[in-house]
Amino acid sequence: MNFPATRLRRLRSSAALRSLVRETRLEPSALIYPLFLCEGVGVRRAIGSMPGVFNLSIDEALKEVEACAALGIGGVLLFGVPDAKDEEGSGAWAEDGIVQRGLRTIKKSPAAGSLVVMADVCLCEYTSHGHCGVVNRVGESFVVDNDPSVALLAATAVSLAQAGADVVAPSDMMDGRVGAIRSALDEAGRANTPILSYASKFASAFYGPFREAAGSAPQFGDRRTYQMDAANLREAMREIEQDIAEGADMLLMKPAMPYLDVIREARNRFDLPMGAYQVSGEYSMLHAAFQRGWLEPERAMLESLLGIRRAGADFIVTYFAKDAAGLL
Ligand code: PBG
Repeated sequence: MNFPATRLRRLRSSAALRSLVRETRLEPSALIYPLFLCEGVGVRRAIGSMPGVFNLSIDEALKEVEACAALGIGGVLLFGVPDAKDEEGSGAWAEDGIVQRGLRTIKKSPAAGSLVVMADVCLCEYTSHGHCGVVNRVGESFVVDNDPSVALLAATAVSLAQAGADVVAPSDMMDGRVGAIRSALDEAGRANTPILSYASKFASAFYGPFREAAGSAPQFGDRRTYQMDAANLREAMREIEQDIAEGADMLLMKPAMPYLDVIREARNRFDLPMGAYQVSGEYSMLHAAFQRGWLEPERAMLESLLGIRRAGADFIVTYFAKDAAGLL
């Protein structure tokens, strides 16, 4: 390249030219909107740390599903906020569990026809201790017991698929859960239900606001014995390889903004469809700056999403889905 023959600014001179040569695009169909389902009727309970995000009763969630469909959004991801919790998290696989009932209602709606209705598979919203699996207490300390947890997660995935989930998305980070979920789905006659695996999920401070939204903060200890250490990119690649070998259909990378290098590396190495989760803390942090007038909301929001797409994500789970789709 040789200046003045080459002037890179030439192709930036008008909006039309910039649009023509744009390498990465955002579109509503590549956005997934998370919904937090709670008991009751007519409930829209605001989450203090996440402006614009609510715990929704099923009837209210249905309105959101319709709004998402009208905006051309790609899908929704359902989480449960149950009234009752227990040691094992039995609400996760209950036939009349909050997400199971939500799925049955939502899937009946014509609006759901244009959306991929995904269900998160984890126990942490349903366990009294808030961990993602079964806890064994050993004296003062405790372990989250892998193999018994995997059996419960597999039962949860089957229950959600039977209630109508188009895709099940395990976010627990137990070893071997994708394989167990695949076998359990196949045995239950759900061979065609895809698994979106949170294959690369780090133990992150950026999940803080979600734990307020889902009421899932661990009552003791933390998640570092099952979620990955923030420092490890190579280990993330091993997690992904393992989940692919066990039958994952799609990958979900999480969080997004502090881990864009991990997303890019996964994109270079693997050919599966891959999403990234712009998690609660990323959303809250941007909103905090919007509230202070420190960042331009629309531009900062779209730039944060574009960066995730440019890093290699095909789709993005984001609390901004509706706001962004409205602008695109
Ligand atoms: C459940 C789960 C979490 C998130 C998605 N699924 C919380 C966690 O692992 O503590 C976080 C999503 C977000 O922060 O927006 N295991």
